[in-house]
Order: sequence, then C-alpha cells, then structure tokens
Amino acid sequence: MIDRRSAAFVRLRQLADRPGGRRITPLFAADPHRAARFSVALDDLTLDFSKSSLDDAALDALFGLADAAGLDDFRRRMFAGAMVNTTERRAAMHMALRAPGDAGLRAELGGVSEDAGHLAAVERARMRDFVAAVHAGDKTGATGARFTHVLSIGIGGSDLGPLVATEALTLGRVDTPMEARFLSNVDGHAFLHATHGLDPARTLVLIASKTFTTLETMTNAQAARAWVAGALGEAAVPLHFGALSTNLPAVAAFGVTPDHTFGFRDWVGGRYSLWSPVGLSIALAAGWDKFQAMLDGAWAMDRHFRDTPLRQNLPVLLALVGIWHTNALGCANQCVLAYDDRLRRLPAHLQQVEMESNGKRVTLAGVPTEWDTCPVLFGEPGTNAQHSFIQMVHQGTRVIPVDFILAANPDHDRPEAHRVLAANAFAQAEALMVGKSEASIRAEMAAKGASQSDIDAIAPHRVAPGERPSNTILFKRLDAFSLGRLIALYEHKVAVQGCLWDIDSFDQWGVELGKALAGGILPQLTPGAAAGSHDRSPRGSHDGSPRGSHDASTHGLIARFRALRGES
Ligand code: F6P
Repeated sequence: MIDRRSAAFVRLRQLADRPGGRRITPLFAADPHRAARFSVALDDLTLDFSKSSLDDAALDALFGLADAAGLDDFRRRMFAGAMVNTTERRAAMHMALRAPGDAGLRAELGGVSEDAGHLAAVERARMRDFVAAVHAGDKTGATGARFTHVLSIGIGGSDLGPLVATEALTLGRVDTPMEARFLSNVDGHAFLHATHGLDPARTLVLIASKTFTTLETMTNAQAARAWVAGALGEAAVPLHFGALSTNLPAVAAFGVTPDHTFGFRDWVGGRYSLWSPVGLSIALAAGWDKFQAMLDGAWAMDRHFRDTPLRQNLPVLLALVGIWHTNALGCANQCVLAYDDRLRRLPAHLQQVEMESNGKRVTLAGVPTEWDTCPVLFGEPGTNAQHSFIQMVHQGTRVIPVDFILAANPDHDRPEAHRVLAANAFAQAEALMVGKSEASIRAEMAAKGASQSDIDAIAPHRVAPGERPSNTILFKRLDAFSLGRLIALYEHKVAVQGCLWDIDSFDQWGVELGKALAGGILPQLTPGAAAGSHDRSPRGSHDGSPRGSHDASTHGLIARFRALRGES
C-alpha cells in the first residue's frame, strides 16, 4: 500500500507530465496576476517564484506533500528542540544562537533537555566582551602590540559561514576594526597564502573546530602554533590563540586558555555554526554591532518560518519550488547567482548547507528513498557567471533552475554600475524564461541582410529554448541584518526539504569513510614507509578500516606518487 508521501511524489510527476506541464510563459499569458500571486514577501525581502512552471494544481500538490510529510509537526518539533537529528539523537537548535536568551528555546541532546537560549546567550556575552577588549587594545599580543589581524583556522562549517559573512560585511570597506584571514585547506600553499604579510605579533589565531579533531584544522593549528612560537616564543601562544569548539578538554590540551575559549553544544551542526562562537572572526573583523545585527536578521527569519502559515512562508515556498524542480521535473542541479560581489562565497557556503544536509539516500527509517534528494548546487557572482557557465543554463540539454539574488541599493557611490548589474540580473531571468525562437532569429537575420544559407546554417544554433525556471530574491540593501535573514532563509529551506524527503538533514555520515581511508594511506606516503600491497580481490565496498591493501589503482597511484618524489 503506497503511503501518502509516495503518492504525493507520484502526483507531482503526473502534473509535470501534463501537456505543457513544464512550460512557464503560457501561465503568465493565462493569468495577468501571476507575478504577484507567485511572489511572497517578508518586509523588504521578496521571493518571486513566478518564473516557474508551478500552477495552482502543482502548488496544491506540493502542500499536499508537505501535509503528508507532517511539515507542520516537524517545524513545531524543531523549534521545541526535539531530536530532529535522529541518527545522532540531537536537536538542530541553531536558532537559539541568534534568539534572545529569554526566548525559551531548549534543545535535547541524547534525550536530555537543556536551556539552549540561555547557554548561547552566556557565551555570546563572553564573545562580546572579548571583541571589545581586543578592539580597545586591552587584550594584546605578547609584545603589547594591538591585534590588527585575526587568522581563523577551520574547514567546512567552521570556515565557509564565517568567511561568507566576513566578506559580505567587510569587502571593500575601510572602516573595519580588523582584517580577517581564513585558513582551511591542509595544503601547505594555503598556509603560505593565509599568513602572507602577517605579523605574528599583531595576529590573533582562532582555531574553529566543533570536534577539535579535524585533521586539516589541527594540522594547520600546529603550523600556526609553530609560526607564533617561532616568532615570539612558546610563552606567546596562550596570548595569541583562541578556540571555538564543543570539545573543551581538547582545547585545553592544545594550550588555549579558558578566557580565550568559547564553547557551543552539539545541538549546533557545523554548517549551521556561523552564529555560534565559530563566528567570532566575523565579529572581530566587522564589529560586534554587525555580528549582532546578523543574528537579529536570522532570528527574524526564524520567527517568520516558525509562525507564518505555510502558504505565505518564504522558506517553505522556496523549498517547495525546489521540490517541484527536483522531483517533478527531474532537475539534477540548481544554480545560485548572487548579483553582489560581496556574496562571492555564498554558493560555497550553500553547497555545504544544502548538499551536506540533504545529500542523503536513505530515509529516517534507514531504507533507500523512492525519490531523488538534494540536487547539485553551484554558482558564482553575477555578472561573472554570464561569462562562464550561463551558456549551458540557456542552451544546454539540462534544465537548471536558478536563484537570482539582488540588493536594490549598493554600498558604493557608482549608481550606474549598480543599474547595469541589476539590468543583467533581471535580463538573465527573463531570457531564461522567454528564450528566443528560431522564427524570430531567422527574421532578424534576414532583416540584417543575411543570406538564406547563413540563416539556415546559424539560426538553429542561436535558438534559446526558454521556459527555463528561476527564482528572484530581491531586498533593499545587503547589510548585516539582511545577510543573516538570507542565510537563515536557505537554512530553513533545507530543513523543509529534508522533512519532505524524509531524510536526516543534520547528520553527515558520508564524510567518515574518506577520512578513515586517508588515515590508512597517510603512513604509506611517509618517506621510508613500506609500500602497501594491492588487494587482488575485486573491489567491493571497502570496510573503511585503514589497511595497507588497496585497489590496484590506488596502490599504483601511491607508488607513482612516491616515485615522482624520489621516494620509490
Ligand atoms: O567532515 C565534515 C565536517 O564534519 C563538517 O560537517 C564540518 O563543518 C567540518 O567537517 C569541520 O568539522 P569541525 O568543525 O569539527 O572541525
């Protein structure tokens, strides 16, 4: 007996397969009020999802799926701090990081409930005082020099969120209290780049790691420790290091002092942690008031998501449009084009938020899903994307839905540049939808005197099929509040989609195998190490245990790597 959720997915595919079910322009022709009816706003933030093939029947079917999936109850449980991260028996209570401490937000960890809002508020107050002391020069480096730079060492959620927020709030500005550098990759070149030109005496190093065990981060942390101690002596380390983590014993063992240690709890997922002490670099670089305003913006979106009826709910509607594209139309990709260079790393952050959250293949019950889950997310700033991959989005064989993101007012004094930027954003969305027919191309070429042979040869190549979907997210200005609100919009979109796909959006078991295998290979790359054997058995799924034996390809590559390094 097919359950209601499965039936809802079947219904969505049936609606998409109606004649013209994937077209957009006829929907506008049929309804002069479509743009308004398929837009939703929260204050100055508008989500226009009208350039999609969604009609009322499809929208009703999507809300039918939401009902079958128990979205209302999921939302209630999430804000109640229930263990919506079922496989790790944890709440997903990143909302408590940005809510007022007395908002009453609690979180369950392993069945034990704690006052998340209060715990977050206490640590936030410590962060605020720390930032004030650093900015006032009350807290300095070992030589007494003020800190001018913060080097944040972390990877994944301990890097991308702080990076995108810091860039959004400081790029191109001259009024920032400090400069933040971010070091994530274990590649030694990244260390050289991140520390290039830095004076250790004026650099505060933050180790951002929820677990404080991530190999890349701990490797870089040791390198930074040697860099500081080498320049200023071992005694300088406690003054120049801070740590942001849930693993306080490991932090202490590294030598970070308690007053430079800021903790958070396991009900914060790494990719949802920029609001936590992991975001200390944001506050140091942009100022505490902007960090707090960013929290306020996210909390505004939290309340909207929690309290607004589903049909007027921005995260819900953004999620449902995505479900339509993924599960009804079969789109395997989604593109995010922020027409704001300060958001140049937003796609990278959203890749983790979306693809590490919903890149799953089994339901909460542990059985393979009957439906596709997260599409591949990619993106670059507009207008740059127009000169790299937008060709494929217009004329490729795959339909790739696009989210256009634009602030109406810039923070520079070149209004003409902003008008060009905005014109391009609107034009790309329109072009994807309306396209350009072969008939109009032929007429245009003929009017310009092209020969019939040229027209016959070229016109088919110039056709833009159109009927390609996009959302436009438009708001007044990119500031700390609107940035927090925007990121929280996507966070909750992801949670809604995870609920509808019946998957755990808050674990990430898929990253473990690669880490385990790397642990087995690393010793074989050490000079003088015995080369491993290669396992002649056909490669089934590796049991994940680090062993000397590998498939023939990996074994061969290791041998080649060593030979190229003269370590055969
Ligand atoms: O391996 C993936 C991951 O666990 C991400 O979820 C996380 O953001 C990143 O690694 C860094 O983890 P940590 O903050 O514990 O160093």
